[in-house]
Amino acid sequence: MTNGRGKAARSTLRRSREWFAADGRSGMVYRSWLRNQGYGPEVFDGRPVIGIASTWSELAPCNAHLDRVADAVKRGVWQAGGFPLVFPVMATGETLMRPTAMLYRNLLALVAEELMRANPLDGVVLLSGCDKTTPGLLMAAASVDLPAIMVTGGPMLNGKFRGRDVGSGTHVWKFEAEVKAGRMSVEDCQVAEGCMARSDGHCMTMGTASTMACMAEALGMQLPGSATWPAVDSRRYETAQAAGQRIMALVEDDVRPSAILTRAAFENAIRANAAIGGSTNAVIHLIALAGRVGVELTVDDFDVLASDVPTLVDLMPSGRFLMEDFCYAGGLPVVLRRLAEAHLLNADQLTVNGKTIGDNAASAECWNDEVIRPLDTPLLPAGAGTAVLKGNLCPSGAVIKQSAASRHLLIHEGRAVVFDSPEEYHAVCDDDDLDVTADDVIVIRGAGPKGYPGMPEVANVPIPARLLRDGVTDMVRISDGRMSGTGYGTVVLHVSPEAAVGGPLALVRTGDRILLDVPARSLTVDVSDDELTQRAEAWSPTLRPEDRSGYRWLYREHVLQADAGADLDFLRGSRGAGVPRDSH
Ligand code: FES
Repeated sequence: MTNGRGKAARSTLRRSREWFAADGRSGMVYRSWLRNQGYGPEVFDGRPVIGIASTWSELAPCNAHLDRVADAVKRGVWQAGGFPLVFPVMATGETLMRPTAMLYRNLLALVAEELMRANPLDGVVLLSGCDKTTPGLLMAAASVDLPAIMVTGGPMLNGKFRGRDVGSGTHVWKFEAEVKAGRMSVEDCQVAEGCMARSDGHCMTMGTASTMACMAEALGMQLPGSATWPAVDSRRYETAQAAGQRIMALVEDDVRPSAILTRAAFENAIRANAAIGGSTNAVIHLIALAGRVGVELTVDDFDVLASDVPTLVDLMPSGRFLMEDFCYAGGLPVVLRRLAEAHLLNADQLTVNGKTIGDNAASAECWNDEVIRPLDTPLLPAGAGTAVLKGNLCPSGAVIKQSAASRHLLIHEGRAVVFDSPEEYHAVCDDDDLDVTADDVIVIRGAGPKGYPGMPEVANVPIPARLLRDGVTDMVRISDGRMSGTGYGTVVLHVSPEAAVGGPLALVRTGDRILLDVPARSLTVDVSDDELTQRAEAWSPTLRPEDRSGYRWLYREHVLQADAGADLDFLRGSRGAGVPRDSH
């Protein structure tokens, strides 16, 4: 027996011993049924039991290879003397789930949290890929606070169409607009469709999945350099194996997410997000994650902390390249090194490899300065990333991704053309007699957390077909919904409070004048307070029949607004792992 900090003392504290070292009938039940998989008794000798939380699913195409990634993690756990057990967590695939995968991020987190707590696990490896799976698993791990390490599944190879790079998501919108404008045939579009997603992996633009993979690395929750390896690269599997080995050390040293996910780590992530030109969805996911570990983080932090960070990474949708190029240029460690050189990184933050983020980035070398720009020749100057707007149209805030917007529209006044739902807009947007001009401001409401419900990625609605044919490529659009990280345009997102709870967006009428002034961080509607008060008194909420029971009811009742991360109110905070009661 060593002292309280020694190996033997710690091993007696392992949660899994509460199951497998139990006497009598209980211990027999726990061990015996698990042996139906052919394990010998040695796996119950006190070695750490490592859960591998997999969001594998054929219904989540971006995660469909995670079973193979799990095999590599298992290999690493065995090599380091642990006992790995893979368990499925619900997968949230962006492309197939209706009404929106975001409706289920919190459910994923809830399921994963409860599975981690209910089972004899000493540590967990989190396997994610598609957008919501990364924040969902991180939120779960934070609330359980068991030693954890993340392995994201990696991006797809660059899309290739007739000699050009095409980016997942980004080019879906581009091609749609080209077809509507008559500049691309439907047949060519169908050929292009088969050229975008040509390997395992998640979207290879700097969409939400790539962004959140980088956020996991910038937070210190995944091994350095691992966010960008393509899903089919052998080094993706090498990384997974290394994570399987490394989780054993985290268990041994009892390093939990609460030791890594500090306020300083979130500041690093916010600045890294600005430097990579990351998705606006990072705002919601990082605030939700911070809420799980009790770190104070507000939407304003994203503007303040990013204000002195230039955009360095030239990736679609803001720039030209794709994740493969980012990886080969050196990946996120290069960005972190450049932030550190500019004194924009909390360099002493602990990461899952046991070193500080500054130490990890110190030796990073850039192999392509076009893809990852030097500090003195950035893609965009400091403060040109995600801006947070305030005003009488969004008292709790709204965001706009400046790097994906049109510069000439960043200060704009226009007539509001209001739609109560995305569907209402889509039903008429291609009508030639739709009363809308390029100077108008399209308002899409009813797309917030409670309103849809689930806050779908619908805010970057297509430009009306008639205007596209006239050569219009962008218009100001405003919504309480979200936009895909692969999307682009002058789109104001996450308007809070949302229309469904009576926020000012609910009170806007077609014909009102809306003023957007991004440099002044302002979004206002030119309607007097008295008039808005009168409209509010006449407003009443609506509730769809399908939202009156089941999970959708639970979600609507408890979801927080976008500026609070759209988590469920009763899931905020850490509940710890504990050891549930023995019923045998
Ligand atoms: Fe899964 Fe884009 S659809 S990452």
